[in-house]
Amino acid sequence: MIKVTYVAQDGTATTIEAEEGTSVMQAAVSNDLDGIVGECGGSMMCATCHCYVDEAWAERTGERSSDEEEMLEGAADEVTERSRLSCQIRLQPGLDGLVVHLPEEQL
Ligand code: FES
Repeated sequence: MIKVTYVAQDGTATTIEAEEGTSVMQAAVSNDLDGIVGECGGSMMCATCHCYVDEAWAERTGERSSDEEEMLEGAADEVTERSRLSCQIRLQPGLDGLVVHLPEEQL
């Protein structure tokens, strides 16, 4: 199992354990975490799974693809260089302990 911590705008941190291969979006949605909607189920059609990767993890989560970049343009909250679609980040052993920050709004 791989741990991911989601930090809400008010500083509340929630740590979830998920199987390797699960996306950061799926891990949140299947644990009913507020702050990640994942409307399209992970097919990169919605941007309601927007998150900000913690600075310390930015290199390990890799770069966003051009399709992801395009979809992020529709995100409800500000897009920064650390913005990612959480459905596009797959949990793997190197990401154990990953920290992502949640935007104020997703819709
Ligand atoms: S869940 Fe829709 S783009 Fe990620």
